[in-house]
Amino acid sequence: MFELIKDQIKNIKKVVFVTGAGISQESGIPTFRGKDGLWKNHDSMKLATIDAFYDNPKLVWEWYNERRKNIFAAQPNLGHKAIAELEKYVKVAVLTQNIDGLHQKAGSSEVLELHGSIIKIKCSVCNFNEEITSEISEILPLCKCGNILRPDVVWFGESLPQDVWQKAMIYASQCDLMVIVGTSLVVSPANTLPIYAKQNNALLIEINPDNTEMSPEMTLVIRNTGTISLPEFVSLFKNK
Ligand code: OAD
Ligand code: ZN
Repeated sequence: MFELIKDQIKNIKKVVFVTGAGISQESGIPTFRGKDGLWKNHDSMKLATIDAFYDNPKLVWEWYNERRKNIFAAQPNLGHKAIAELEKYVKVAVLTQNIDGLHQKAGSSEVLELHGSIIKIKCSVCNFNEEITSEISEILPLCKCGNILRPDVVWFGESLPQDVWQKAMIYASQCDLMVIVGTSLVVSPANTLPIYAKQNNALLIEINPDNTEMSPEMTLVIRNTGTISLPEFVSLFKNK
């Protein structure tokens, strides 16, 4: 699968992964786009924008509560685990658009959550922000300050947490190899990360059963799933 880059692996010191919903698909968490994607049956503008939240916070909360249930029941798969294992051999950073916490659960130590975390709940007004793994039974949940609590995720139209984004750009522009797994690369600014890596002459590998707009930019494209491709990718480093 990876024959083309086998010889170049010897010189790799810093690997950055850019991951999206596809890496967690084999853990039973649906993706957004594509035939079984969440955005096929749900209107993202009614569920994942700040305006939608203020128009109908109950609907948004019910949807996030369902996703929280599914995500808390999910386990990291062989793809997440392979990425965590790679830390034994090289420097690794994971820049993820996922909010499910599965990279951390698999054992990865440097995970930047570009789109926040569904496990965390924050206040829409004050600084309250906490990990809450129990079910949010009260809808609408209120903060001690009296304002509505919300999931600590980035909605369409909101900016990414700036400290996280700054760090992500630095990782991307300093890596020797970027592996892009399970993202359609249509959402900005996460989809600009491969460009920073390319400017550093990094090798770019895409792992995705389907084509993306940036496939032609890649050094190598693996048209397969995360659980099949990632363990094999990591085994190259074991034997280098
Ligand atoms: P998408 O749903 O847009 O893309 C998922 C990608 O994963 C697709 O390119 C699939 O081909 C691929 N895929 C599916 N199964 C796979 C598997 N088993 N192994 C590897 N790849 C697989 O998800 P994202 O690119 O993550 O934001 O979407 C980006 C953002 O858009 C999300 O963070 C979310 C969404 O709307 C917000 O909600 C704000
Ligand atoms: Zn508050």
